[in-house]
Amino acid sequence: MSGKLNLMQKVANLYNMCGIVGYIGEENSLPILINGLKALEYRGYDSAGIAIFSNNKVKVRKSVGEVKILENDLKDQTSLVGHLGIGHTRWATHGAPSVINAHPHSDCTRRIFVVHNGIIENYKELKKYLQNRGHSFLSNTDTEIVSHLIEDFLREKKDFKTALFDALKMIKGAYAFAIIDSKNPDTLYAVRLSSPLVIGVGKHENFLASDPSALIGKTKDVIYLKDGEIGEITKGGVSITNLRKQKTPSEIVRLEWDLEQAQKGNYPHFMLKEIFEGAEVVLYALRGRLRSKENLVKLGGLEQVAEKLKETKRLLILACGTSYYAGLVGEYLFEEISKIPTEVHFASEFRYREEPFEKKTVAIAISQSGETADTLAAIRKAKKNGILTLGIVNTVGSTIARETEAGVYNHAGPEIGVASTKAFLSQLTVLTLMAVYLSKSNGKSSNHALLYELERIPEKIRTILSKASEVEKLAEKYKNCDNFLFLGRRYNYPVALEGALKLKEISYIHAEGYGAGEMKHGPIAMICEKLPTMAIVPQNSISEKMFSNLEEIKARKGPIFAIATEGDEGIEMLADNVFFIPKTIEPLEPFLTVIPLQLFAYYIGTKRGFNVDKPRNLAKSVTVE
Ligand code: F6R
Repeated sequence: MSGKLNLMQKVANLYNMCGIVGYIGEENSLPILINGLKALEYRGYDSAGIAIFSNNKVKVRKSVGEVKILENDLKDQTSLVGHLGIGHTRWATHGAPSVINAHPHSDCTRRIFVVHNGIIENYKELKKYLQNRGHSFLSNTDTEIVSHLIEDFLREKKDFKTALFDALKMIKGAYAFAIIDSKNPDTLYAVRLSSPLVIGVGKHENFLASDPSALIGKTKDVIYLKDGEIGEITKGGVSITNLRKQKTPSEIVRLEWDLEQAQKGNYPHFMLKEIFEGAEVVLYALRGRLRSKENLVKLGGLEQVAEKLKETKRLLILACGTSYYAGLVGEYLFEEISKIPTEVHFASEFRYREEPFEKKTVAIAISQSGETADTLAAIRKAKKNGILTLGIVNTVGSTIARETEAGVYNHAGPEIGVASTKAFLSQLTVLTLMAVYLSKSNGKSSNHALLYELERIPEKIRTILSKASEVEKLAEKYKNCDNFLFLGRRYNYPVALEGALKLKEISYIHAEGYGAGEMKHGPIAMICEKLPTMAIVPQNSISEKMFSNLEEIKARKGPIFAIATEGDEGIEMLADNVFFIPKTIEPLEPFLTVIPLQLFAYYIGTKRGFNVDKPRNLAKSVTVE
């Protein structure tokens, strides 16, 4: 590795914030590229650029700032028409945000054009090597070395493909590249190593994107490139080889997402739209899987491993962030309903633990994107140790979906807002179904009451959403607080953690989630007039204990905002503000208690003037460690 990465590089490497689009076909590529880049805006970026093969040469246009600035700059350029093009949104790593550093980058002869996501770790050595061989560079980026390196091999009279393979052998790091060779305008090249890239398959046209959401409205058929694969894409087909130049088979996966799901509609933000999709995503995840009257859960994705699952002695749930918190709810569900001991691990920690793997353990990865690097590494580790791996994944065909041996898709549709909301609800749905499925394997005969109530959850979510304006009013009251404490117990303990995470990431307010029983072991010292507590206290087996905790807060003058069950009069004596939710059974409470917390974070974030769809420093999928 060449020297240490600076902080900016590390942040972008960590979150892999840039976006790639590409097109080859019979249409003019410009509007397709611009729309694709707009669809990727949520990832966060500081500049954008395109390269289009037009009138026998490649024309490059770039600008700093939003994609619409680039679009406006190109409005009058009627001659910029071409059937092959690549585009990029850049989040600066090597070199400041500027037109010069924006992608695409080219070589000395302006034959090769490259856009890139990821980091080339040995770029300094390669740059020096190339400079010594007479190459001159325009930008400060690591990406530019790629075009020069290919050019260098072409000087040895190699054909383009051989030059590309030879260049890849010298590059160390994580990358996804889209490349145009202007001497061969019938092909678009795509290369992937640890950074996602997906080919959209059309009729007489094909697309390329770093994220399938950029393909929505264009095609539903996609091929996910695997690590170390090189795609040669023409308008009529796709051919894939690995780094050893062997042809590899490609599988076309059908995306269920549609255009409407990927647009904001009448909502001011994707986040609000996605919170309001809560009831639908539960229904989508249940569809065809639940027949409560027959006490039946059918999970086709697990059928192939059904026999093995019957022997499960222990479950390991591996996930990050919001998916991890869904996993914590899963832990309660699997232990209570399936009677299987369950542990939940941050995937980022699990990958470095010395885990004594036991036979008959099953690992479950939970991931909305299906591309989170830590979760993928954790699941690979489990697999390597002979453990059966399952996935609960939203993005069809994503790496985690492919690499787990079996699994269940969430079918929540694309989640565009960076903060995860609807995916959490769909994860809870799949976890509940899985818990019932595994309880059957364990010989339990009936979960009738649970399944009956699960079918009623979407309606109850709608009731809560119809009262969103109440949460908005309370957000107005609390919007200037600097700190917040979230408390819950049992099934609502993970919800407290998730509520605090949402507030942190969207409103930049310091918030801590805690198990209410732990209060007396430390956090109670912080309670005062200036620290409001969000108490998740529905009427259930533990609510009396929660009430005692709230008495302790009240005695210390701490303001309390409670989420409680309709008809609970006692809570109004204790709390300063109450938001009432419909009654449900305890294992399903998180479906209802999380919604006001998502709304609360949303309204506080917008009231504080932040772009809640693109919180600072965050990206939707964290594809590099
Ligand atoms: C929080 C959030 C993140 C993700 C985490 C895992 O709102 O979005 O914490 O939940 O990065 O992502 P996936 O589920 O894609 O593996």
